[in-house]
Amino acid sequence: MTRHFLKDTDLSPSELVEVLDLAEALKADPYSRRPLEGPGTGIVFFDKTSTRTRVSFATGIADLGGNPLIVNPGESQLGHKESIADTARVLERMVKIIVWRTFAQSGLEEMAANSAVPVINALSDDYHPCQLLADLMTIREHKHTGSGNGLSGLTMVYYGDGANNMSNSYVLAGVNAGMHVRIVAPVGHQPAEAIVAEADALAATTGGSLTVTEDPATGAEGADVVITDTWVSMGQSAAGRADGDSPFVPYQVTQEVMDTAAEGAIFLHCLPAYRGSEVAAEVIDGPASVVF
Ligand code: NVA
Repeated sequence: MTRHFLKDTDLSPSELVEVLDLAEALKADPYSRRPLEGPGTGIVFFDKTSTRTRVSFATGIADLGGNPLIVNPGESQLGHKESIADTARVLERMVKIIVWRTFAQSGLEEMAANSAVPVINALSDDYHPCQLLADLMTIREHKHTGSGNGLSGLTMVYYGDGANNMSNSYVLAGVNAGMHVRIVAPVGHQPAEAIVAEADALAATTGGSLTVTEDPATGAEGADVVITDTWVSMGQSAAGRADGDSPFVPYQVTQEVMDTAAEGAIFLHCLPAYRGSEVAAEVIDGPASVVF
């Protein structure tokens, strides 16, 4: 059966470690595995704009021996002139993988249900699982626990919009890795009940945990990793989110917040970043930042 990667928990805890191990091996020896050699084509659709994801998929597919075919917003019939199902049935005859950045998670699910080749989520309104693979790899490089999968037991704290795609992915991927995930977010912008229930069920098997708090002053206490993301995600209106009345203003990651984290804590941000909003410049450009 074809495997797809639509959300963080599509990888079991042991498969997650396998992928991170493989990524480390490829980083050390970039052209050692060429599964797309031919070259086979990987198509990468964007319904939302992108810099990093576009370049990383294009270079990644090429590095694996394949041919990246990038389709920018507005350049295809996908989902408006041609159904998602018909698109999948045509593409599976020509490409090796389908990568898609889009709005609704249900669109990705429909594509996967109709595709004999793997479908990969390159960000949806609900999740950004590939970003989490990169972040967990970075966390392991900097904060490896020295045992097990190198991540379990670490405390990862996220400040800001606790109901967006990044927050959902930090919750699910972090708990999948056995980490203690803390979401620090204002009431009304905290993880949905379904995400909390899924994380709690998963935590019982991985030893991880999820805590949700609205207190920015104590939220980062003891954290090994502190993270934030934009207050206005793609597709959202900035009104009431990015202005002075924004409920996220008290949730900026400042140096004071970093000072409450554990000794040697690192700072991460998926980018694009807005200095002076979700993060202070001295943090993202400071010594704790491993963003770049
Ligand atoms: N939450 C952000 C992540 C960008 C990579 C967005 O969806 O715009």
